[in-house]
Amino acid sequence: IVVDWSPEVAQKGGYEHFMLKEMHEQPQTVTDTLLGRVPEDSRLPIEIPELNITPDDVRRVERLTFVACGTAYHAGVIAKYAFEQILRIPVNVDVGSEFRYRQPILGKNEWVIAISQSGETADTIASMREGKEQGARVLAITNVVGSSVARLADGVLYTRAGPEVAVASTKAFIGQIVGVYLLLLYMAQYRHLSPSAQQVVRELRQGLWRSARDIERVLETADKTRAIAERIAEKPVAFFIGRNMDEPLAREGALKLKEISYIHAQGYPAGELKHGTLALLESGVPVVALATQSSVYDKMVSNMQEVLARDAWCIGIVPEGDERVTQLLGEENVLTIPRSNDYLHVLPAAVQVQLIAYYAARALGRDIDQPRNLAKSVTVE
Ligand code: G6P
Repeated sequence: IVVDWSPEVAQKGGYEHFMLKEMHEQPQTVTDTLLGRVPEDSRLPIEIPELNITPDDVRRVERLTFVACGTAYHAGVIAKYAFEQILRIPVNVDVGSEFRYRQPILGKNEWVIAISQSGETADTIASMREGKEQGARVLAITNVVGSSVARLADGVLYTRAGPEVAVASTKAFIGQIVGVYLLLLYMAQYRHLSPSAQQVVRELRQGLWRSARDIERVLETADKTRAIAERIAEKPVAFFIGRNMDEPLAREGALKLKEISYIHAQGYPAGELKHGTLALLESGVPVVALATQSSVYDKMVSNMQEVLARDAWCIGIVPEGDERVTQLLGEENVLTIPRSNDYLHVLPAAVQVQLIAYYAARALGRDIDQPRNLAKSVTVE
């Protein structure tokens, strides 16, 4: 008997690639990251002792700056939208390699929050040092206990995605978004909020648990995403557009696609289309349009019309039950996510764009887990 077995095949647990396995672990990442921190009984407080911040610190803080690289940077942009919209705290987001060199101004009562899967990214570490030198409180959202980022920070919120092997980050990103929301929910307990913001916070707290199931649903319906991705794989270029919290997801979708399929891809705020990208749209060019944010839904529909007017191929990502986009683009060009609220939509929508990248790269026979020229963790500046 010949047994075809290797440690790597065993570690993949029956999945063709680590990336696919890790995408399937995302519901678990959500649940694990919440466990023991967000009591299901909503009357009980959220406690995250390892963050090392007191209710008074939360009341006093005047501005947050998120620093991160690559996929983690997109979690930072999501944080900016959520913190500013819900908590009304001013937020900066900086790419790690830019932060120090732009001579940032940090004052008392400001926090620098690093987001990093590995906790070893040199540019992110350097940004934390800059924050420390200027006397800011430095926090970290990271996946690796005892990493450089964790050791340098004054307080840490660990995402619990478990080890991520594929170079392209998937479950760690989901962990980072949940981590950002956890920090937000924790801080919301001690900040003065409008009644409508309080309602959003309540919905977010309850809904986060359910988003594990929402992600599962997207994974279960991956066949349709796969069919669309296989057609994208035949194209030399692809665009992703979105507004509000779909904007960082558009960038993330483009990043994932270029990382593993090598298709030239760009992610844009949809409103910027007319300031350049429209010149590149012609017959058949794929444009993935995310429209999961209710406040800008109408604007996204107009953007889709602009895309169709150039005879480009528009693919929509919308909450289930959508009618207008489906009518406009045709059922076969629409991918759905379970409907919840704008903040929670980000999680299953992130999974849709990951699946597009994965299946496009697979159709092209790429080395998905180890794309050329890229490293899992970049420890040089
Ligand atoms: C590398 C990886 C990316 C990751 C980025 C930041 O470029 O290939 O997937 O997003 O580093 O890594 P970090 O470990 O700091 O999240």
